[in-house]
Amino acid sequence: MIMSDYENLKNELQSEPRTWLVTGVAGFIGSNLLETLLKLNQQVVGLDNFSTSFQHNLDEVKASVPPEQWSAFRMIEGDIRDIATCHQACNGVDYVLHQAALGSVPRSLEDPVTTNQNNIDGFLHMLVAARDAEVKRFVYAASSSTYGDHPDLPKVEEKIGSPLSPYAVTKLVNELYADVFNKSYGFRSIGLRYFNIFGRRQVPNGAYAAVIPKWTAALLDDETVFINGDGSTSRDFCYIDNAVQANLLAATTDNSEATNQVYNVAVGDRTSLNDLYRLIREALEGLGVYTAEKLEYRDFRAGDVLHSLADTGKASDLLGYQPTHRIGEGLEEAMQWYKNRHEQSGADSD
Ligand SMILES: NC(=O)c1ccc[n+]([C@@H]2O[C@H](COP(=O)([O-])OP(=O)(O)OC[C@H]3O[C@@H](n4cnc5c(N)ncnc54)[C@H](O)[C@@H]3O)[C@@H](O)[C@H]2O)c1
Repeated sequence: MIMSDYENLKNELQSEPRTWLVTGVAGFIGSNLLETLLKLNQQVVGLDNFSTSFQHNLDEVKASVPPEQWSAFRMIEGDIRDIATCHQACNGVDYVLHQAALGSVPRSLEDPVTTNQNNIDGFLHMLVAARDAEVKRFVYAASSSTYGDHPDLPKVEEKIGSPLSPYAVTKLVNELYADVFNKSYGFRSIGLRYFNIFGRRQVPNGAYAAVIPKWTAALLDDETVFINGDGSTSRDFCYIDNAVQANLLAATTDNSEATNQVYNVAVGDRTSLNDLYRLIREALEGLGVYTAEKLEYRDFRAGDVLHSLADTGKASDLLGYQPTHRIGEGLEEAMQWYKNRHEQSGADSD
């Protein structure tokens, strides 16, 4: 059997612990990075100010690993808007996986200043701190929103349009700063343009929840699911395990051509919102959860792109990225997690 680059990397890491800094560690993607790294016997420093996340995400990771692996985790509760905290966090670290930011296009439309402070000032602080600490690699969460109004599908990394929201501006500026740090200081980083990542621990409630957790929660609570637009809007939904894989490959690649680059992190499958609604209900049915059809269409949302689909060839050629989960497989695992969570919250309120 031929092992993938990711399988080889995991074997290598198991026998050779290194130190990682995960910012936004209590969040959805950050806590999944933490879980995988601890299970691979790595040392992890976490940084988070809990602005959009919860201690229970960390508690869940703690419960999923043996005590000796959990003891390899050191948490710093702090804010990337404070540069001294960033310096402290980067001290002695091999790799930085920078996830901390305020996500959500609508949030950025309502409060562009706060999004700017977290996503641009905070990002710059992390770049400076990582450069000064001479870390081996700085990998950061970029975004498919950077494609903005560019009409081509599938999206290839070199062709971007104009941003359609303040959030998209911040993610584009991150890429510009990363590139300038290479030109000015020879500091090489890798940006991962995530396309609609989903899976365990993605927050289902609140005004800024992403579509999969929001709809799943509505279905499980027997509430109406709202589709913005006519349902033909499409996305390249990418399961969390694929995003974790991309981060670990990007951090450790020794291919010099692969650094100072940005990569699409997706699957390369296009799913309309109408199809997504059906797929979620089917995945729940596979778990014995039968949900009622309560669906309403409403206006398109400002700042959203209509269609999004990635070409993942660059990540596969230069990083060895091979997504392990397509949308159906990802939804099966994610729905199991949301179902358990729903049952647990029901039991807690009994
Ligand atoms: N989930 C997606 O589909 C997606 C798509 C594109 C890009 N991204 C990017 O991926 C990253 C992680 O997103 P996520 O989905 O896990 O969101 P999340 O909100 O669950 O995680 C973000 C984490 O960053 C923390 N944080 C925010 N501001 C901070 C600050 N000033 N100091 C310290 N910590 C701070 C939050 O408390 C949270 O734990 C973000 O940069 C986001 O913009 C996510």
